[in-house]
Amino acid sequence: MSVPIVRRLSVLRATVADWRRQGLSVGVVPTMGALHEGHLSLVRAGLERADRVIVTLFVNPKQFNNPADLAAYPRTEESDAAKLSPAGAHLLYAPDAAEIYPDGFATTVSVTGVADVLEGAFRPGHFDGVATVVAKLFLQTAADIAFFGEKDFQQLQVVRRMARDLDIPIEIVACETVREADGLAMSSRNVRLGPQQRAIAPRLAAILFDAARQISAGAVAAAVLDDARAALVDAGFRDVEYLDLRSVATFEPLAGGSEPARLLVAAWLGGVRLIDNVPVPPAGGCDRPA
Ligand code: PAJ
Repeated sequence: MSVPIVRRLSVLRATVADWRRQGLSVGVVPTMGALHEGHLSLVRAGLERADRVIVTLFVNPKQFNNPADLAAYPRTEESDAAKLSPAGAHLLYAPDAAEIYPDGFATTVSVTGVADVLEGAFRPGHFDGVATVVAKLFLQTAADIAFFGEKDFQQLQVVRRMARDLDIPIEIVACETVREADGLAMSSRNVRLGPQQRAIAPRLAAILFDAARQISAGAVAAAVLDDARAALVDAGFRDVEYLDLRSVATFEPLAGGSEPARLLVAAWLGGVRLIDNVPVPPAGGCDRPA
């Protein structure tokens, strides 16, 4: 059976209300489409934890700080829907733009602190766009539980802060990054890598994991990160925008691996901006129920 596609908020609300009457719990997996195994892992995690799983597909113009990036973003709704049916998702909510940003839309959800650094510093306005659309998707779906990838670790922190600050009654579950066999984190933007760049791209994860191992073994982070930056440039990356060790609890910069931490990177390879991150010390798996 193919997954039903809903474009109208009124239809989404009626469907969810019907599920509620039957006593069913509802999970949501927000996406911008061009679905790959990373997205599908979130759907599978959703099916383990909720009776009904909604996948949302909306390429959100407000979170693209670069118009060329928005224009080049892959749009593959038909094949996305074809992947969701065997994965077991119950509904694809692919709203008309007016359902998200009706005429006169004038509200921005802006998270400070965690959203100001790293991605936030290099992509002005990006997290305002993310927080605004995710808040809307949480309220439109009225889901009990939402699934996000650690691939976008800072986004996860921003969404958690937003939901907590606005008292949106939703549980947020983080799922580990799904990688290609050679270690490259799956991303909808990977299709833009040329063959030469694709061959270099896995070095990003390899260098990150290597640095994470050294830091968790007690090495001074600053020295390890300097070496890792040089290794990235040697491998063919340019503009390493950030390579930073941050506390998982506070997202503050750390000098060593004394507490659970995350090593995060953004670097350009040709015309493609890649981001990745790894835990320090290494660990994995979706959050388990408490
Ligand atoms: P998108 O990039 O489509 O990602 C949707 C979800 O899939 C995010 O939670 C992201 O972290 C997760 N994801 C992407 N690649 C992954 C991988 N390799 N392994 C595991 N999870 C992965 O992130 C967005 O869309 C948007 O910002 C959105 C939250 C939908 C708001 O517009």
